[in-house]
Amino acid sequence: MHLITLLALLPLIAGIPTQQQQQQQPFQIQIQNHVNPLKHLSAISPFYIPTQDPTPLPSSCELDRVSLLIRHSSIQGNDDEFEQTMKPFIDKIDSYKKDQRGKLPKKGEWAFLNEWDTPIKEETLEVVSDQGKKDAKFLGKYIREQYDSLFPSKKKTTTKKDKNKTSYKIWTASSPRDIDTAKAYIKGGFPSHQSGDDGEGDGEVVQLVKVPNKAKDWDRSLTPHKACDAFEKVSSLEPANKWLAVYAPKVIERLRGVIPEIADELVDQDILAMQMLCGYETIASGHSHFCKLFTDEEWLDVEYYFDVRFHYMMGYGSPLAAYLGMPWSKTAKHLLAGKDTGGDHPSSHPPKDEYKKGGKLPEPKLPPNATHTQLLHPSFTHRESPAFVAVFLNLFNSTSHPHPASETPPLDHRVDDRAWRTSHLVSFLGHVALERYHCKHDGDYVRAVVNGIQQTMSGCEDGLEGSCKWKTFDKWIDQRAARWGDWESVCEK
Ligand SMILES: *[C@@H]1O[C@H](CO)[C@@H](O)[C@H](O)[C@H]1NC(C)=O
Ligand SMILES: *[C@@H]1O[C@H](CO)[C@@H](O)[C@H](O)[C@H]1NC(C)=O
Ligand SMILES: *[C@@H]1O[C@H](CO)[C@@H](O)[C@H](O)[C@H]1NC(C)=O
Repeated sequence: MHLITLLALLPLIAGIPTQQQQQQQPFQIQIQNHVNPLKHLSAISPFYIPTQDPTPLPSSCELDRVSLLIRHSSIQGNDDEFEQTMKPFIDKIDSYKKDQRGKLPKKGEWAFLNEWDTPIKEETLEVVSDQGKKDAKFLGKYIREQYDSLFPSKKKTTTKKDKNKTSYKIWTASSPRDIDTAKAYIKGGFPSHQSGDDGEGDGEVVQLVKVPNKAKDWDRSLTPHKACDAFEKVSSLEPANKWLAVYAPKVIERLRGVIPEIADELVDQDILAMQMLCGYETIASGHSHFCKLFTDEEWLDVEYYFDVRFHYMMGYGSPLAAYLGMPWSKTAKHLLAGKDTGGDHPSSHPPKDEYKKGGKLPEPKLPPNATHTQLLHPSFTHRESPAFVAVFLNLFNSTSHPHPASETPPLDHRVDDRAWRTSHLVSFLGHVALERYHCKHDGDYVRAVVNGIQQTMSGCEDGLEGSCKWKTFDKWIDQRAARWGDWESVCEK
């Protein structure tokens, strides 16, 4: 079943060579890619589910509860990347089109530039694309398949409504891209009588709850960095650009033999811009010429660029990351503990009318870290959060790995066997699950699963098949929370 649904998505990401590539130009070496660039673009990688099935639970074990942190789906460009990198390149090509048409190649795989008009525009930056919505809907179905027993029943309720019964909640950060993703997910994961017309939930069984991005109290568990004044994204550009200055000039050198008039005027950022456009154009319109213009090595080099950047911005190289991963992890532990089973709390149903008025979402009455009776807790948020949580949970950081994620990435060469691969962590719809399960005649366990693949929480791995005993996990999270708990002080500017 997984594989069949997967196949439907493949044409977008498979990078099947087109006829265009077969017309040889005498002066050009046609590029044949073995890697699919869309799987190596880190946070710009459109959603893909790893091609293997999710790591199964050990035999005769059953899931009890799951907390799920999900990045929003594919957007048509990020503000900063547009301003800093893509726009200057787009403007450069526009100026050639206006005044210096002679510079643009007439033949070959770069000739498209003569007609090129980018779909990545100021007006639609940060907006989830149609494909992004489809992907999120697919994720809803996929998560339902994996965790069906943890969802509320699909049956229509015929008995009189129990006013005290709490609805099943999906939490989302308050940016439109998070809300749009969560709505599409709900439409995929729930029958239409529960999903609401627009995916906001029917308000009875299912309820989408918006958590304000910047409030400084409990809701930090979804977007802690937005409430942390000391968090910034700029300083990580410096090491990343050092690496860019190693690989991009080699690309420009190669291009001197292909598009000499243009290559002479390209700067390092233009190479990055074209590689970014491969991802964003594919998201916006289904394909991009730029995906066919770089060699495998050049795609692996740009992937390393993002891994360096995110190591410092939101990974082990950031002194704030573990602090900012603490709130969600602690909340997840609280929810997995499920002390509340059977207990109810006052209904937080909004009045039914609120749902009718143009999809306005209710403000939460209870924080995500309150006591909730549901078994699966999904939260939608931004790229930073899964990375912070990975650091707090010590994922990808095993000392048995040749290059654990906490090791400083060299900036003069690429390290191929590194454990820190952000394409596998923060692609669009990238997700981290903490799964609690029990086994026959045996204890209680927790494991961390990133995009379907189990990952070791180094230091909390005394359970079955690399998982962690619940009791160990319970203490381990508290110890780490004590170590990285005082984030008010580290977040002060
Ligand atoms: C609903 O909750 C209220 C207040 O907690 C309680 O007094 C009442 O008995 C409950 N009703 C039902 C049907 O459980
Ligand atoms: C929920 O978060 C608030 C602060 O944001 C904290 O005071 C409270 O103790 C937390 N509750 C639990 C159960 O962790
Ligand atoms: C990552 O692993 C190193 C080496 O074992 C360890 O010193 C460090 O504390 C780990 N990082 C985190 C955030 O746990």
